[in-house]
Amino acid sequence: MEPQALTISLDEYRERRRRVLESLEGAAAVVLAGAEIASDSRQWRWRTDRLFWYLTGIDHESDAAVLFDPTTEDPARRITLFLRPRDPEAERWDGGRDPIDSALKAKTGFTNIKRTGSLPGLLTEAARRTKRLACLHPFTPYNAEISPDLALFRRIGEHVPGVAVEDRTQLLPAMRAVKSPAELALIERAVAATAAGFTAGLRAIRPGLREADIERVITATFRELDSEPAFEPIVGAGSNAAVLHYQDSETVVKEGDLIVIDYGAAYGGYASDVTRTFPASGRFTAEQREVYEVVLEANLAAIAAARPGATFTEVDAAARAVIEKGGYGDAFIHGTSHNVGIEVHDVTPDGPLQAGMVITVEPGIYLPDKGFGVRIEDDVLITETGSRDLTGAIPKTVAAVEAAMASR
Ligand code: GLY
Ligand code: MN
Ligand code: MN
Repeated sequence: MEPQALTISLDEYRERRRRVLESLEGAAAVVLAGAEIASDSRQWRWRTDRLFWYLTGIDHESDAAVLFDPTTEDPARRITLFLRPRDPEAERWDGGRDPIDSALKAKTGFTNIKRTGSLPGLLTEAARRTKRLACLHPFTPYNAEISPDLALFRRIGEHVPGVAVEDRTQLLPAMRAVKSPAELALIERAVAATAAGFTAGLRAIRPGLREADIERVITATFRELDSEPAFEPIVGAGSNAAVLHYQDSETVVKEGDLIVIDYGAAYGGYASDVTRTFPASGRFTAEQREVYEVVLEANLAAIAAARPGATFTEVDAAARAVIEKGGYGDAFIHGTSHNVGIEVHDVTPDGPLQAGMVITVEPGIYLPDKGFGVRIEDDVLITETGSRDLTGAIPKTVAAVEAAMASR
């Protein structure tokens, strides 16, 4: 029997919007879907900004927006979805779009839907009334384009004097970082696809194969389980395993190689992110094994340090102490953790870890001179009392990896 498809319910999206409205304490705010840029490549399907998706579940509506106007008189108009107008000619290419009617309201869970043409007037009016506009989209570095809501607010400032712009950019990252039961169920489904993909990949490994062949086996397994790649994988054999963002995947695997596989499935919009390091022959050499055991100990030490109230710095220090003690401090050249969720490198609020967060723990040792590297990456749920390794069942100890490979 096919497992039942999981999704986030319309009620949960509605509750997320209600929390935003309440947290704004009277300030107006807007979350923008972004604009699809016409492209002939059709390689990746354009998707809405992930903050917009988090609040709506709407994936493919270019130019859409959600306006939060907490002080407008009619409570039914405090949250509005804006959709671009219909275009019969474009619909011949891209498929039909819905009229604004009760069916669309039922489908989206929004009671108030308007066309994008009315957003400038309504947002400017909200600014005049509230004199407070809150930025929700993350700020960008000064050499990048300004964040989309701040860009609108600056223009409004030229039209309406006395409007204060507030930094509320922590609000959505703080909400997104703590996963609901429904979000965790989706992540666990992604993890199951990732586990199946790594198992299939491990079984396929043999000297003479190209890295890309292993990648293809894993991707096919994701798709069989209604999942998709959460990011561009890294499959690096031999000295390629020491290149952190190696993506060519053209090298032929040799007998003595270690193969670092960093890959993860996404299910229902939620990512997983796992790395395992497998010996092409099925057995680690003594030297590879010694390094592997240090990385494994660092991974386990960091997982043990991950608990509510701990900081990313403390989790990193736990892993780093093990690797430094092993004499490989200079060979661990990246951080240990990041949040995982709607994005593989998910938004990260300020402050310590909290129950319900999902983070990676991914120490590594990279030895280009010796022609190999090792990374072990797990996705870890922060619980009330500590943490739970969601991906630990994917063969990880030397014994588990060698046993799994012996049964190929
Ligand atoms: N797959 C990218 C990372 O591990 O952060
Ligand atoms: Mn990864
Ligand atoms: Mn990662």
